[in-house]
Amino acid sequence: MRIFVTGAAGFIGGRLSKLLLNRGDQVIGLDNLNDYYPVENKRRNLADLLPDPKFTFIEGDLRDADGLRGWFEQHRPDTVAHLAAMAAVRYSVQHPLIYGHVNVQGSMNLLDAARHLGPIPCILASTGSAYGGDTPVPFEESAPAAHPLAPYPASKRSMEMFAHCYHHLWKLPVTILRFFNVYGPYGRPDMMPWQWSRDIHHGRPITLYNAGHLHRDWTYIDDILSGFVSALDKAFPFELINLGCGRPVENIQFVKIIEQLLGKSAQIIDVPSPASEPLITYANISKARKLLGYDPKTNVEQGLENFIRWMKDNNLL
Ligand SMILES: NC(=O)c1ccc[n+]([C@@H]2O[C@H](COP(=O)([O-])OP(=O)(O)OC[C@H]3O[C@@H](n4cnc5c(N)ncnc54)[C@H](O)[C@@H]3O)[C@@H](O)[C@H]2O)c1
Repeated sequence: MRIFVTGAAGFIGGRLSKLLLNRGDQVIGLDNLNDYYPVENKRRNLADLLPDPKFTFIEGDLRDADGLRGWFEQHRPDTVAHLAAMAAVRYSVQHPLIYGHVNVQGSMNLLDAARHLGPIPCILASTGSAYGGDTPVPFEESAPAAHPLAPYPASKRSMEMFAHCYHHLWKLPVTILRFFNVYGPYGRPDMMPWQWSRDIHHGRPITLYNAGHLHRDWTYIDDILSGFVSALDKAFPFELINLGCGRPVENIQFVKIIEQLLGKSAQIIDVPSPASEPLITYANISKARKLLGYDPKTNVEQGLENFIRWMKDNNLL
């Protein structure tokens, strides 16, 4: 298959591209290499893909609607895997407008190009934070998810709604995957697993919201990828599916596992949880199990061990 992967220089897009190339697919990767986090991390991800002759890289922007149409026309992908986004809840509170420009308008540009030049089936990365703070746990896809707590989840929820309307009006095949707290090797340097590991290793204090009593449904990268690839191969007419681990862990417990793996103690600064943070994320993964054969296998003990080993092997601690 010929797959157009947006956000191919990012954490999940980079790992997905690698997996697809390894199984023989052609990958056209798009990324604007923005400096929200250091570009060297994105270049490291790309360096793992560029030697493969089945990989083509386009440095370009989702906000360029004509560009997207041109790239689709030129490369004629069978499927689009849309992972490019401004991610991160906290940054979105400081910089809300770019979340509308990239995650809403940019995703619309992509959906629009996919309907005009196909329709080309689209698999969209969304987020478990769309469930906000008022959805009963475990979160089910049928919940209204009408009260996002920050611009980032609001932008992803908007993308989901536009995707539904593109399917409804123009029969664009769309699968929306709501990822939950993804971590693992090649992870994002702005996310907690990376920051906590590095700070604990260097004896620097770490900040925990609510004394670490928030629960997060940490999901290992390989599990996310297995669900993603299954959705990509199935190309449903329209589905919205949670991809989480289904086993939320308290952040304080997550930190304890990092302490054990590093053999060091954390100095914890306890601050109140901001209004943008839900108390818990917890995916009901029955639908993913049924439709995708999804079966997350990696618990946080094993996942963090793999992550910290990768950090050490690459001198990133
Ligand atoms: N990592 C997680 O825990 C998590 C959880 C839920 C959802 N997601 C979603 O999964 C997807 C991938 O996340 P990630 O963790 O790999 O993040 P990431 O930031 O590592 O990857 C996103 C990539 O998109 C690129 N990008 C951003 N704006 C762009 C634009 N305008 N045009 C082209 N490229 C652009 C960035 O340069 C980056 O390389 C995102 O859509 C994110 O919202 C991630």
